[in-house]
Amino acid sequence: MDKQTYRNKQNKKSDQVNDQVSQIGQRVTGRVLSKQQVKYRNEYNKSALDMFDLKSNLKLTRQLSELEKELKEKRTYGMGFPATFFDYSFFGSFLNMLMNNLGEPTQGGQYAIHTKAYEIKLLKFYYQIFHCHENAWGYLTSGSTEANKMAFLLTRQLYGEKGVVFVSDQTHSFVVDRAKDYFRRHVTIPSQTNGEMKYAVLEERLNRLHDHGEYVPVVVVNIGTTFLGAIDNIKIVSQIIKNSKFEHFYIHCDAALLGNFLPFIDQESPLDFKKYPIDSISVSGHKLPGIPIPSGLFVCRHARIFDDYKETAYLDVKNSTLNCSRSGLAALMWWAFVEHLGKDGFKKVIQHCYKMTEYLLKRFQDISWKAWVNKNSNTVIFESPANTVVEKWVISKVGKWSHIVVMPHFSYSLVDEFIDDIKKQQRKGSQKQRLSEDLLWIKSTQ
Ligand SMILES: Cc1ncc(COP(=O)(O)O)c(C=O)c1O
Repeated sequence: MDKQTYRNKQNKKSDQVNDQVSQIGQRVTGRVLSKQQVKYRNEYNKSALDMFDLKSNLKLTRQLSELEKELKEKRTYGMGFPATFFDYSFFGSFLNMLMNNLGEPTQGGQYAIHTKAYEIKLLKFYYQIFHCHENAWGYLTSGSTEANKMAFLLTRQLYGEKGVVFVSDQTHSFVVDRAKDYFRRHVTIPSQTNGEMKYAVLEERLNRLHDHGEYVPVVVVNIGTTFLGAIDNIKIVSQIIKNSKFEHFYIHCDAALLGNFLPFIDQESPLDFKKYPIDSISVSGHKLPGIPIPSGLFVCRHARIFDDYKETAYLDVKNSTLNCSRSGLAALMWWAFVEHLGKDGFKKVIQHCYKMTEYLLKRFQDISWKAWVNKNSNTVIFESPANTVVEKWVISKVGKWSHIVVMPHFSYSLVDEFIDDIKKQQRKGSQKQRLSEDLLWIKSTQ
């Protein structure tokens, strides 16, 4: 067949298709469409979703594969940050659904594709482990920072401009910055060598504030400081605040990491709404449960205050949360984590982390390397090794100190490999000299 005959044949075919569609168009719209209209309608008759066909883009997929390989390698040696790597790939089939938990979690709202029922189940699990009162309220945030901010916002609603925020010099810097945004005055309490706040200074500063007028102290208690993993003593802090005789006060516990550890240890957890006058708690989801989407929970005992919140008409939900759009996928993954493991499974995961912490500390002692850990913490602080080790093991370094946050992906062999790397560059003399004094310190902090 020559070219012209072929073209004629093709045109005829396409005219036939257009005629057929024209008849359908006529039936659908009740009017006859021109050939041009039919062509246009044909072109737009399917959705634009197929346009995002990543597999057909070889350059991009190659680029992404390389990135995946690089990140997987970093993940193998990731030790310095409170990140861990449970396998959430089961949720792959949820990736083409926009699950958006808009606003108030207890109201479904008009946008129907959400996972609020699971968010509520997740919250109930935490209400239980934190021994919440019946007036508990909370929601899934984008991380502990948003939850900390929410605590500050709540104090403003409760006490207007009267709040004066107390942080320690070990409080996460984002908390301190947000405190400056929300309060006219903030007080920084110095810390002890192990990272706990100096309680006597807190007491003295609270008393001073009391004598100065009608203020409401808002005290941020660190349940696991970021670098040293120190746990402020909630019992002492509560007693000091009660003794200071303020009519009102607010206690917020920043438990970004250890909020998923301490409720499962054999001793009493400080995160207990019934035992202590705690107003709110924040905890991160991307830390221990390793949710691969930054997430957190805000939990408080002030459900009533949200009754008066406005409804957003087009969503038909109260705008009680700090952010409007919230990740329905993160809520679902986190719920699946707690549902699958339950309290017993959680406990086993936590025990694994503490066992590995003990082992790491022992291995540091074996090689006479200066290292220590706070009681009930999984953060091991040690004198920084050479930069090659710091980089390979993705370790966080501040001045001459580094830390390792022992997470569920740790194993004996991983710890041994790390210690072998340190041994290779060990400067024996300088380490040994200070060892006996350090060991005493380790004991006294436990
Ligand atoms: C004590 C503390 N608070 C807050 C944060 C910030 O948490 P997020 O990343 O969930 O916002 C961290 C992070 O490491 C932390 O250690």
